[in-house]
Amino acid sequence: MSKTLTPEKLQDLVAHVLAAAGSAQAEADKVAANLVLANLSGHDSHGVGMVPRYVDAVLEGGLKPNTGVRAGVDLGTMLALDGQRGYGQIVGEQAMRMGIERARRHGSCIVTVGNSHHLGRIGHFAEMAVEAGLVSLHFVNVLSRPVVAPFGGGDGRFGTNPCCIGIPLEGQPPFVLDFATSRVAQGKMRVAHNKGERVPEGYLIDAQGRPTTDPGVVVVPQGEGLFGALMTFGEHKGYGMAVACELLGGALTGGGTWHRPADTARTVLNGMLAVLIDPAKLGTRPAFEREAAAFVDWLRQAPAGQGHDRVRIAGEPEREARARRAREGIVLDDATWQEIVDAGRKVGWAVAG
Ligand SMILES: NC(=O)c1ccc[n+]([C@@H]2O[C@H](COP(=O)([O-])OP(=O)(O)OC[C@H]3O[C@@H](n4cnc5c(N)ncnc54)[C@H](O)[C@@H]3O)[C@@H](O)[C@H]2O)c1
Repeated sequence: MSKTLTPEKLQDLVAHVLAAAGSAQAEADKVAANLVLANLSGHDSHGVGMVPRYVDAVLEGGLKPNTGVRAGVDLGTMLALDGQRGYGQIVGEQAMRMGIERARRHGSCIVTVGNSHHLGRIGHFAEMAVEAGLVSLHFVNVLSRPVVAPFGGGDGRFGTNPCCIGIPLEGQPPFVLDFATSRVAQGKMRVAHNKGERVPEGYLIDAQGRPTTDPGVVVVPQGEGLFGALMTFGEHKGYGMAVACELLGGALTGGGTWHRPADTARTVLNGMLAVLIDPAKLGTRPAFEREAAAFVDWLRQAPAGQGHDRVRIAGEPEREARARRAREGIVLDDATWQEIVDAGRKVGWAVAG
């Protein structure tokens, strides 16, 4: 059984739950819109299914509604911000707006945000930058249960540490590469577990460090609070990238790295290093536009490989999903729906679907 809702209906009911959990209406609306856009983009792992976790984090005291960024250092082209445990959807957007304004003025800006609550889909921030004509690079660490194993290791030591690159393309939609450095996003294991599905080999190890296809090993404790772990993508190369995200998103931002045993907190904190570049100020814009378009065109001319219909660039699958889901609605599995209803109940709001 599942439930299909229009994006508008889903956004409205999620905003009600978030407002009941203490957010001012404008904040609740913005966070709800961000989560629904993640669902629309095909990333259910970072969509409204996060609401129960956010509500628990608010009740736990680890997520502070109605909280914005605080600037530590502001050198014009360098901004060090403290997210103060506010909603990542709010403090992340604030940080990007500040960084975008500086990059347009000075040509580039380095922004760090430590201590933000879950930033959600990082591509959202790259989309803000490319909309303003800027290139953006994002390195993010995750302070939550250490769910990803280091290459060659047998238990989880760090989070799904996402990395994202946004590049505007003249006259066509942008390149937006946005991925977790784990083989798959942790939230996708929750979704698969809720649907009762198995996952392909090579994604997971169990609590004893053995390969498994059961997503439940990273969703439900495997006895005495032990969990299995996700593996990184690309073996040692993805592992290196994950470590870089921890060092840049966690250490360089001052937000902190993970180096302690797992706890049971529901709070998820993110640190993000974002680098914004204005191609117009760099003086390469004509060549950049011409060469980027020529290369993307060249890629698209490749014949379809076996089992594929055509070549795409990063960002296209999300745009295709948005068009489809805006038409067909957003499908929530039973477990996810029930968890949202329960979250509403915890904060005194009866969710009516
Ligand atoms: N805030 C956090 O703590 C956190 C942690 C981990 C992941 N995330 C988010 O989770 C989301 C999902 O991550 P994921 O690793 O599961 O993503 P994914 O594996 O679905 O996609 C990764 C990227 O690959 C591109 N892509 C997919 N199919 C393609 C194709 N056929 N051709 C060309 N490009 C293609 C997509 O456009 C996207 O940029 C991301 O938005 C990420 O930011 C957030």
